[in-house]
Amino acid sequence: MKRKILVTSALPYANGPLHLGHLVEYTQTDIWVRYHKLRGHDCTYVCADDAHGTPIMLRAQSEGITPETLVARMQTEHLRDFTAFGIGFDCYHSTHSPENFAISQEIYRRLRAGEHIVVREIEQAYDPVAGIFLPDRFIRGTCPKCGAADQYGDSCEVCGATYSPTDLLDAVSAISGATPERRPTEHYFFALGDFSDFLRQWIHSGTLQEEMANKLDEWFATGLADWDISRDAPYFGIPIPDTQDKFFYVWLDALPGYMAATRRWCEEHGRDFDTYWGADAESEVYHFIGKDIIYFHALFWPAMLKGAGYRLPTAVFTHGFMTVNGAKMSKSRGTSITAAQYLERLEPEFLRYYFASKLHPRAEDIDLNLEDFLLKGNGDLVGKVVNLAARSAGFIHRYGGGRLAPSLGEDTDFYRELAAQREGIGAAYAERDYARAIRDIMALADRVNAYVDRAAPWLLAKDPSQHEALLRVASTTLNAFRLLVTLLSPVVPQLARRSLDFLHCPLDWDATAEPLLDHDIAPYQHLLQRMEKTIVDSLIASPSSPASEAPKTKPTDQTPKTQAPGGSAEGAEATPTISIDDFTRVELRVARIVAAEAVEGAEKLLRLSLDIGEDKPRQVFAGIKAAYRPEDLQGRLTVMVANLAPRKMRFGLSEGMVLAASGPEGGPFLLSPDSGAVPGMRIK
Ligand code: MSP
Ligand code: ZN
Repeated sequence: MKRKILVTSALPYANGPLHLGHLVEYTQTDIWVRYHKLRGHDCTYVCADDAHGTPIMLRAQSEGITPETLVARMQTEHLRDFTAFGIGFDCYHSTHSPENFAISQEIYRRLRAGEHIVVREIEQAYDPVAGIFLPDRFIRGTCPKCGAADQYGDSCEVCGATYSPTDLLDAVSAISGATPERRPTEHYFFALGDFSDFLRQWIHSGTLQEEMANKLDEWFATGLADWDISRDAPYFGIPIPDTQDKFFYVWLDALPGYMAATRRWCEEHGRDFDTYWGADAESEVYHFIGKDIIYFHALFWPAMLKGAGYRLPTAVFTHGFMTVNGAKMSKSRGTSITAAQYLERLEPEFLRYYFASKLHPRAEDIDLNLEDFLLKGNGDLVGKVVNLAARSAGFIHRYGGGRLAPSLGEDTDFYRELAAQREGIGAAYAERDYARAIRDIMALADRVNAYVDRAAPWLLAKDPSQHEALLRVASTTLNAFRLLVTLLSPVVPQLARRSLDFLHCPLDWDATAEPLLDHDIAPYQHLLQRMEKTIVDSLIASPSSPASEAPKTKPTDQTPKTQAPGGSAEGAEATPTISIDDFTRVELRVARIVAAEAVEGAEKLLRLSLDIGEDKPRQVFAGIKAAYRPEDLQGRLTVMVANLAPRKMRFGLSEGMVLAASGPEGGPFLLSPDSGAVPGMRIK
């Protein structure tokens, strides 16, 4: 059945460039949208720049331009980066748009008519020099807890304390340096508490991931406070109807930005807005967001919609935060990588693929580990997928006139078996379990590569009597390649497009049920180049130190080379040879994996129970989670270092080590003995 689906990603702030953390979200959403479009659903993806607020107003001031000019420029930059990353919005709008003015004000009027708006006088910090009320973030001073200087008005970056700006010692305005005054001002509030019962029920009705719903429960314990939705002029935002100098707080018009973008798209495409957002809308609506903005999307937003008589989101999908090499992104560590910096160096497909391989339906953080990133991109995408085409296209052109065989003959069933896996992989996409989709697709790729190795087309090519078999094998391989790129197309749309152009065929999920036969293909041209390690490494700006900022030594300078402290010597160090005695000190044994399971809180580890013929199995933590499903490991044999000193890890004691191969082509690949070996056998 064809579904009507509206999908959104959170609206990025217009006051800064996109970084790789943002791209986790837009990639996650884009994959989901592309998958549903591929399956023929009427799916629309909208987003916009979140253009309002004090930071944008001040930044425009400091650049000497109007905020309108600034947000127009940022929108162009954002859209340029999104487009390069293959994020396929149907509409990319702005909250600073006529549609959003109208919708935000309409929502406000309806909430007011429903008596959900209250007005109260409050006291706020005011900068008498700049002449504006100061958001907490624009007040700086000494932390009242630890005494650290120059901290924000709401929290201390040094000791982590949170407080109110009035608690800061010697507070100053970050804008003018003046001492802030307390000034009374009238503010408008949204009475969130009116929706308490409704929200409590709504968040547990399958609209959120269970973990998120549980987290939100904490908020009901203390009662839902009124939400301050107004800001005093001067403010870059949308005026509150029937006031002189009040504007909506940026979040109040950011959320309706989803509707504004939808309205714009509807107008451009002759669609009816009410079928998406009206109280009885037929469409499904999904919001993809990061975990930091769950309160806005799971409390404020549904209450606003409910109070104003619109439909509610079908679901809110929350993802975790991206870390780089295990730590929070940070400018000072050089790990705050912008989208533009990435694009200068590498193909977007590698990052999309990497994120996909790590994304689960849960809101866990995901780590960008650059070593792993390099291995996965080169090993999987280039090594296992693109190589299939590179290795078979030549045979089709040399021996088949560039035309695929008229039949796959005895390999027809092999192809059909591969194609039969599509539904399961599709279900993984739909469930946002992209890690599973990727694992299953790569398992298919492994089968195809094993098929090529077995069929050895390079040997068939040497024997003219085998050329028909050769064309069959190459055609089967290229058909499998077409299937793989179609399955991967939501993740790597640009690679899929190039690959299908080479095969002269459209992107069509259903058509891959049957192989392409008797069909002309184009000459092979490179589809995806391997990544160089030095380039991947250069993503992380080297931490600036006085030495590295010194002018580069001129080639004529005869200064002796000295090794930087902590740096490595030039040239790879060779592994020293060892004596036979050294080797025999390592006790290698055949082990049976009797149990394997994921380790909570560990990205890469599996906990293995290994039988090596002792009375109790050994526990070993192995960093092989990316390559193996625990259930697939149960019962298989491998090789273990049995006399490694036990190591205490965060998750328990590791009593040995299993052996696995890995290289730039991929891995890890667990070693295993030939059949006949039994647990406990010594390897020598
Ligand atoms: N403007 C608001 C959203 C308004 S929606 C009506 C905002 N903007 S943002 O630019 O800060 O973030 C946009 C999205 O990117 C958010 O969903 C946020 O969670 C996500 N991410 C920002 N940094 C991220 C990581 N480091 N990792 C993963 N997602 C990240 O919030
Ligand atoms: Zn402090």
